[in-house]
Amino acid sequence: MRYCGGQVDFCDIDPQTRLIDLDLLQDKLEKAPEGSYEGIIPVDFAGYPVQMEQLRKIADQYGLWIIEDACHAPGAWFYDSLGQKQYCGSSQYADLAIFSFHPVKHIACGEGGMITTNDPELYAKLKQLRTHGMIYQGNDALIENHGGWYMEMQDLGYNYRMPDILCALGISQLKRASQGIAKRQAIARRYDAAFKNTQVITRTPSDDINHAYHLYIIEVNNRKELYDALRESGIYVQVHYIPVHLMPYYKELGFGKGDYPVAEAYYERCLSIPMYPTLSEEEQTYVIDKVLYYSK
Ligand SMILES: Cc1ncc(COP(=O)(O)O)c(C=O)c1O
Repeated sequence: MRYCGGQVDFCDIDPQTRLIDLDLLQDKLEKAPEGSYEGIIPVDFAGYPVQMEQLRKIADQYGLWIIEDACHAPGAWFYDSLGQKQYCGSSQYADLAIFSFHPVKHIACGEGGMITTNDPELYAKLKQLRTHGMIYQGNDALIENHGGWYMEMQDLGYNYRMPDILCALGISQLKRASQGIAKRQAIARRYDAAFKNTQVITRTPSDDINHAYHLYIIEVNNRKELYDALRESGIYVQVHYIPVHLMPYYKELGFGKGDYPVAEAYYERCLSIPMYPTLSEEEQTYVIDKVLYYSK
């Protein structure tokens, strides 16, 4: 948004799902002067699907577009009001949805990503922008046509094409995608069971959604101590994420501590513990034992 000259605002999260809090969002939009906002970018955080049907209703009340950040959630879904499964990034409710193929993601190509849309105009525009703003033969929008070789640069675009070799890697990974999610979910159920009724807080998702488990996040009182102890034990734990509004860049723009208290409180306690399909039962047991031993 900032690259496009837009202003950015944030909305606090729901402490249970850690997704954008739709009640707070509605409230924020209601209180804002008309025309203050143009669009919403919800994140299917950690693999938990945002209820996009509800979000679409809110967006439509205020004439906003939606770009769904589905980078964490390929394969996740929720049920819509007709009882149909709606997959993250299907763009059924969003105008555009984005995926990342960074090595840590479900489908890893090395680098790169994907945008999905059901809007033919946006699709054509995206295809044009990814290749230097050019359009080719067969496109009715060509202003001139000198012959089979002819194409036109009609806009200032980018070189945003993914290398074919990385695409081939991604396509091959698609075959294992469902299996990978099933393994992640089995790992999550084992963590859930191990931490039940302990000092380690987990957030079991509601039964009527399918969580893609890009991340498995626990919340504890002694996060820093636990982070250090687990790293020293050879366990690669991480923190997702430092609230973006507390980054120096956004502080410069006027955001600050206290603006989004739920996200800030979550940040004080969160820790992502190993979650990937090849995590063995033995390795997971080691992680569980160490987490229980060092956490408060
Ligand atoms: C939720 C989310 N959105 C967007 C991105 C950016 O993806 P990329 O690094 O492929 O541009 C990431 C990367 O980690 C992410 O986690």
